[in-house]
Amino acid sequence: IRIAVLVSGDGSNLQALLVAQKRGENADGRIVLVIGDRRCTALERAERHDIEAVGLDRRTLGGKAFESRLLACLGQHNIDLIVLAGFLSILSCEVTERYRRRIINIHPSLIPSFCGKGYYGLRVHQAALHRGVKISGATVHLVDEVADGGPILAQQAIDVLGDDTPTSLGRRILEQVEWKLLPRTVASYCLYMERNMSLLQNLAANRY
Ligand code: GRF
Repeated sequence: IRIAVLVSGDGSNLQALLVAQKRGENADGRIVLVIGDRRCTALERAERHDIEAVGLDRRTLGGKAFESRLLACLGQHNIDLIVLAGFLSILSCEVTERYRRRIINIHPSLIPSFCGKGYYGLRVHQAALHRGVKISGATVHLVDEVADGGPILAQQAIDVLGDDTPTSLGRRILEQVEWKLLPRTVASYCLYMERNMSLLQNLAANRY
């Protein structure tokens, strides 16, 4: 399974995916491309790992040109699976349709709480603390046309502490949950895709 990771920021989740890959923890998938919607540290991390890194600046290109370049790039690299790892742009229906059930996102809350439009970055954790929830966590889900609305693949919770700030809560979710949950879920999903693909290929070739 050929994977493209889409990024906007620090790229610590990308790093976790790359480390897992180096350790052989995703036997069925391989990250072959990283695309950023802006200049960011994540793209530098990709280059350091010798992965092709493409910057498509959404702000200067505009939404339409950005998406057509994105689709062209994904097509040229024969991408099977897209992983959004701290990617801040919302993809249009054209992309979510074209890659239906083939886009995975990680969101730093327990969906359906604190998700959807406007809930990104520290705002997610601010809202969680403001509401006084006692647990939070992260969700890995498939992406469809509804922001943070697609089928949930995996979730993991942690306790919210009495003295948590949005920054401390966000950091703990990132380190204790996201860096493990995302690579694990991507590996399972690649295995699932691989099995389905060979099933379909065998059916097409009349091997059953
Ligand atoms: C993560 O919390 C991710 O869930 C969210 O943005 C943060 C990005 O972290 N969408 P990084 O860029 O992977 O370090």
